[in-house]
Amino acid sequence: RLLSWFDQHGRHDLPWQHPRSAYRVWISEIMLQQTQVATVIGYFDRFITAFPDLQSLAAASLDQVLAHWAGLGYYSRARNLHRAAQICVDMHAGSLPRDLDALRALPGIGRSTAAAILSQAHAERVAILDGNVKRVLSRHAGIEGYPGLPAVERQLWREAESRLPDAALAARMPDYTQALMDLGACVCARRQPRCTQCPIASDCV
Ligand code: ADE
Repeated sequence: RLLSWFDQHGRHDLPWQHPRSAYRVWISEIMLQQTQVATVIGYFDRFITAFPDLQSLAAASLDQVLAHWAGLGYYSRARNLHRAAQICVDMHAGSLPRDLDALRALPGIGRSTAAAILSQAHAERVAILDGNVKRVLSRHAGIEGYPGLPAVERQLWREAESRLPDAALAARMPDYTQALMDLGACVCARRQPRCTQCPIASDCV
């Protein structure tokens, strides 16, 4: 149901979707951690033009990287990107590792960002859980309590994993991940959710 909704109503023209390479998804996910999509798009395009691949990012000076981040805020994100790119050149043959734990070991990449990279770029069957998705799952599963509490967060991770598409839809993992984010941003809004437009509203009691 979520994938059918995504095909009709989801976002298909975000610049990091074409092509959906691990490097491009990574840059976009880091930018989107604390910044809205509408703002990120211009920064993303300029950043990718300046640093089209991991090697060029690793070889750039920190000042060059920070110059392309100017205005986005949370500058530790740019420092972490730069350091992570250098670690990938030194330790991972110049690519982002295709492994959840190795990704999480890189500066600036947590469990959800690592899963967002693997699911969107490599169609791996791994669950994401960012702020929007926590809200979607809390409502869909009827979980009360502050999602920052470790016990609640553990429960939300379990719900996220239990909802992953089954093997028949494995190739659609990139779209499933994007669909959850789009549902959280566009329908399952924090205030005044548009439940009449939600493909899974009938599950919610
Ligand atoms: N926030 C984090 N990742 C996103 C994505 N891929 N699309 C839209 N918003 C996001």
